[in-house]
Amino acid sequence: MTHRSWMRSQGFTTEVFDGRPVIGIATTWSELAPCNVHLHRVAESVKRGVWQAGGFPLEFPTMALGETLLRPTAMLYRNLLAMEAEELFRANPLDGVVLLSGCDKTTPGLLMAASSVDLPAIMVTGGPKLNGKYQGTDVGSGTAVWRWEEDLLAGRMTQEECFFAEGCMSRSDGHCMTMGTASTMASAAEALGMQLPYSAAWPAVDSRRYETAQRAGQVIVDLVNSDLTPSKIMTREAFENAIRVNAAIGGSTNAAIHLLAIAGRLGVPLSLDDFDALAADVPTLVNLQPSGQYLMEDFCYAGGLPAVMRELGGLLHGDAITVTGRTVAENVADAPCWNRDVIHAMDAPLQPAGTGTAVLRGNLAPDGAVIKQSAASPHLLKHRGPALVFDSPEAYYAVVADPDLDADENTVLVIRYCGPKGYPGMPEVANVPLPKKLLNRGVRDMVRICDGRMSGTAYGTVVLHVSPEAAAGGALALVRTGDWITLDVPSRALTLEVPDEELARRRAEWTAPPPAAARGWTRLFTDHVLQADTGADLDFLIGASGHEVGRDSH
Ligand code: FES
Repeated sequence: MTHRSWMRSQGFTTEVFDGRPVIGIATTWSELAPCNVHLHRVAESVKRGVWQAGGFPLEFPTMALGETLLRPTAMLYRNLLAMEAEELFRANPLDGVVLLSGCDKTTPGLLMAASSVDLPAIMVTGGPKLNGKYQGTDVGSGTAVWRWEEDLLAGRMTQEECFFAEGCMSRSDGHCMTMGTASTMASAAEALGMQLPYSAAWPAVDSRRYETAQRAGQVIVDLVNSDLTPSKIMTREAFENAIRVNAAIGGSTNAAIHLLAIAGRLGVPLSLDDFDALAADVPTLVNLQPSGQYLMEDFCYAGGLPAVMRELGGLLHGDAITVTGRTVAENVADAPCWNRDVIHAMDAPLQPAGTGTAVLRGNLAPDGAVIKQSAASPHLLKHRGPALVFDSPEAYYAVVADPDLDADENTVLVIRYCGPKGYPGMPEVANVPLPKKLLNRGVRDMVRICDGRMSGTAYGTVVLHVSPEAAAGGALALVRTGDWITLDVPSRALTLEVPDEELARRRAEWTAPPPAAARGWTRLFTDHVLQADTGADLDFLIGASGHEVGRDSH
């Protein structure tokens, strides 16, 4: 009676309290998260579907993580969103939840929460922006900005031209429309079976985005009635599907961190090495920036993710169950492909198998590091060069335009103290622009090594997620300018050519930096965050607690 009486203030008629499923709609809407700003309209479509199917929808806010505005990085708050949403899902009297996400961290954050509560759940991502259009060509969000930044630095573009170009890039609602992290994680959610087929690719402003949202509202009521929970959908087989799909779409390296974190909540055994091993026989099929040419709108018109999954055929676990109540194989059995230049066939791939995310090991990254081969320069995948070391991206930016910087195209730029504890939050800073003097000479890529991340929209020969990170005492902290480093991607090796005895001597001299904050969330985060190779979750958030709570004080 207490629940009902107070809810009556919203003007609900009494029959909605007749025991029908109560469906929470967790939205990450905010004007501070521009990629998610339309989610309140998506929520209205979800509500239509819930009412249609005999449920009772209630929308509520969860942390909106806007990738571009949050300081020092939205990644510092992914686990906070996951923790907040988990508690909201459990503490409120909900029978099922619809997860509305879009910008990069909101998709994994909500999936982590749903995994730890294991209420029936379905994801509805907000969809990508329409293609950017600038000077007669398509431009991708993120990817184009990195290029313009270099052009601005090199004097090939004026500031006014940059302002104009930005407007041309961001011309509709939606998340980044390259195959960046948002599109990657939307695709991962679909490949995992947690969102409806085609959901990842409908543009944010396409009426079918809203139609799919309405359908999701109907489906969540079915999921509650059949008790089909996230742990029954996101099995080891589902994660293997997501990893293989990620390789086929040329997905972001961030997928490794997020999928490992979600698997950790579910108790699904998954390791960083799975990303290399499972992708080894998967060619890149999808021709999207930053690895390829096109954008998400083109991907949608070409057939979207179901066309890719159908093409992958036997490489996927076709019998994995999804939110539709049907299997992956059933969902994609008739999925057409309308454009083979956007979605390539297995016998004529965009890039051959084994050119996706590679996992590197060696004395510089004993617990692993990753490199996105499809975004790298082929001639740099085997490279030996002297290190030029910076203890922060800011230290590098202070000298990036110095004409006397001691660097050439063989130099290996090391940017460190950017890991989960170090920065803190593991920002996307690894793809620092090249030194201005090299850009002026026409050099467009060089090897960079970092314990931070790289935007999924970025490109370059960049070794990422070095684990353990420098701030946790990883060998990266021991590198000195002038040390020689060998990168050998075909052999999956990353080697610091310094004898063990010398490294031991340097380690004895090394002192850990003080915590990044004395109190608050940042202190809790840096005290408990795990390393990138296991998903950078907090140690006390691993696993699940179900959806039962203690006795209500009422
Ligand atoms: Fe939000 Fe790229 S900034 S998806």
